[in-house]
Amino acid sequence: MAELKKEPVDATPNVSAVETVDVATEAEAVAAIDAPVSQGEPILQVRNLVKHFPLTQGILFKKQIGAVKAVDGISFDLYAGETLGIVGESGCGKSTVAKLLMTLERATAGEVFYKGQDITKLSGRALKAVRRNIQMVFQDPYTSLNPRMTVGDIIGETFEIHPEVAPKGDRRRRVQDLLDVVGLNPEYINRYPHQFSGGQRQRIGIARGLALNPEIIICDEPVSALDVSVQAQVINLMEKLQDEFNLSYVFIAHDLSIVRHISDRVGVMYLGKMAEIGTDTQIYDHPTHPYTQALLSAVPVPDPSAREGRDRIILTGDVPSPANPPSGCRFRTRCWKAEERCATEEPLLAIPERFVAGSTPATHESACHFAEERDVVHAA
Ligand SMILES: Nc1ncnc2c1ncn2[C@@H]1O[C@H](COP(=O)(O)OP(=O)(O)O)[C@@H](O)[C@H]1O
Ligand code: SF4
Ligand SMILES: [Mg+2]
Repeated sequence: MAELKKEPVDATPNVSAVETVDVATEAEAVAAIDAPVSQGEPILQVRNLVKHFPLTQGILFKKQIGAVKAVDGISFDLYAGETLGIVGESGCGKSTVAKLLMTLERATAGEVFYKGQDITKLSGRALKAVRRNIQMVFQDPYTSLNPRMTVGDIIGETFEIHPEVAPKGDRRRRVQDLLDVVGLNPEYINRYPHQFSGGQRQRIGIARGLALNPEIIICDEPVSALDVSVQAQVINLMEKLQDEFNLSYVFIAHDLSIVRHISDRVGVMYLGKMAEIGTDTQIYDHPTHPYTQALLSAVPVPDPSAREGRDRIILTGDVPSPANPPSGCRFRTRCWKAEERCATEEPLLAIPERFVAGSTPATHESACHFAEERDVVHAA
């Protein structure tokens, strides 16, 4: 795990410092944000990120009676040029993570360092520069495109906020280039979203994400709403664009089988926490966390003979409410290995002690007191 670069205390402006226009500090932040980063260097460093949504009661006098702990202290790095897959069941906090990385939601606590700048505390020009460099592709290509706007206006809209990327006279040509890049006919620029298929609409969403030449694209379930045959085409396109434009991806999905194809590393989330994180081989072939093992055992296998010998783990019980998560390990209410310790002591995301000394594929971070390998996919 890469060491977090220590910034001088006053180099990361907090909101009030920028609002009183500390121009020199803001200019430094913008310069850091626009500086190039080498492939393989950490480009995003997420540290103890928390998002709690208040639960309130009453109409006139709103009283907070609790909080939905949607994201509850997660840490991970994204390296330049890689794809980090994030998977987990619906409601575990994936979209909230995406919104926090996009600065669309304000973090309750924690930091997100982008090239050393904590984006959760930026505002003004520095925040605008971050928002240009980190873009998003949304899940649903049917609802994420305004039906009353032409494709040209949808893709070109973002140039109104960032005119420096494409001057007015150049915008039509730029949009046509972008349509070409995502495999759509540039002559479709005046068409409306309903004139396209689901896969084509997601290509429009991707073109919109690319318009500002970003470095990072956060993809929140970008193919989940598409037919299986179309999913592969869109994923292939995204891989091609990643090479062409040196992009780093955070690729969110609820299905482990989709992210394997595109991810270099995968993080598995459960109820606002990261359960396990590692390379695709470590996670798919050598999972050590019971939750990852259960998810993997449920991935469909097309070959009937391979299916017969599989180790199926059926999870019992529902996902607990993030407003009232279990004590200790959040997975304990559904875990077949749970012991007393699991209720009292929260397992931290780290390389489990028994694997620290070795350098086997099991040597990766897993938040379980009793982490051990279990080959659920190839079991005979
Ligand atoms: N704006 C919000 N206000 C209150 N609760 C929210 C809000 N957004 C998300 N949540 C809750 O936070 C939890 C995580 O949601 P989300 O991040 O959308 O999960 P996922 O994308 O993994 O399905 C869910 O319980 C959801 O209901
Ligand atoms: S810490 Fe305990 S309850 Fe949690 S995953 Fe490990 S064995 Fe299961
Ligand atoms: Mg979601």
